[in-house]
Amino acid sequence: MDPQVIEKVVQEMSNFSPDMGELQGVTLLQGICDIWDTIYNFQARDGDIVVASYPKSGTTWMQEILDLIVLDGDVERSLRAPCFIKVPFLEMGHTSLEVADSMPSPRILKTHLPVQLVPPSFWEKDVKVVYVARNPKDCMVSYYYFHKMDQTMADPGNWEDFFSNFMSGKVTWGDWFDHVIGWWKAKDHHKILYIFYEDMIEDPRREILKVMKFLGKDFPEDVVQKILQHTSFKSMKNNPVVNFSCLPESVFDQSVTSFMRKGTVGDWKNHFLDSQNLIFDEEYKKKMAGSGLDFRTEL
Ligand code: A3P
Repeated sequence: MDPQVIEKVVQEMSNFSPDMGELQGVTLLQGICDIWDTIYNFQARDGDIVVASYPKSGTTWMQEILDLIVLDGDVERSLRAPCFIKVPFLEMGHTSLEVADSMPSPRILKTHLPVQLVPPSFWEKDVKVVYVARNPKDCMVSYYYFHKMDQTMADPGNWEDFFSNFMSGKVTWGDWFDHVIGWWKAKDHHKILYIFYEDMIEDPRREILKVMKFLGKDFPEDVVQKILQHTSFKSMKNNPVVNFSCLPESVFDQSVTSFMRKGTVGDWKNHFLDSQNLIFDEEYKKKMAGSGLDFRTEL
């Protein structure tokens, strides 16, 4: 991979401002709103694979699994470039979109957009989407730390502030409830595989096999084991291709917290006050009623 292209994408990332905007009632970074026409008119291709998620749901983990599946388990080739180059992030900016345009098929693309905002070409080209969803309590905690670490995001304030903003959907990429329910409903009409982070933690092999099947792949057990091993939390934490260690502190300040922070289910218990937990459970019951979706907050 051309180091100049990597440099250009990193530069674009560092230029992002924490200012927030709004599109069709969804809170997004102003930088995304500014180039919205370009993002919305993105041209998908036959054979594209998309990883979609609300932020902090295990996107990077799934990206790496998808890359290895497409590469038939070739770990050597999976080390060719940082994850944000191998899997362009649709909403990140013009350079990322140029990288996507110049990639050979089959491409893997990443988006955090809620389903109603994805480019229409996704559905015209009948792309396969793997949607990763994570229980909102752990997602919220992970997102809080991410805001502190990612220098291009708004200061999250203290935990109480962030809790309120998350609950009211006033965080970048909008309301968690709308996001997971929107994509859940969409799976009845499009090629969407809906995967839960908690299931991946519980039995990663089982979930990798689901993804393989979805992509029409079947590997012998030794290849599955290689993918499993290479995408374990421990391996990914030490892998510069996926741990974002190539980004300067002015983008990700990992002295605040690592990108590969904990990788567990239930860390919310170390952060939620009893009063917040009560408020949360009440809201969750109301907003998720009738959705057919249920999240596990502990294993
Ligand atoms: P924590 O902050 O709770 O540790 P995303 O890629 O969507 O931004 O999600 C990041 C979250 O996924 C982080 O959660 C990160 O540690 C976790 N994660 C990344 N790779 C993982 C892996 N291989 N196994 C378990 N969790 C992983």
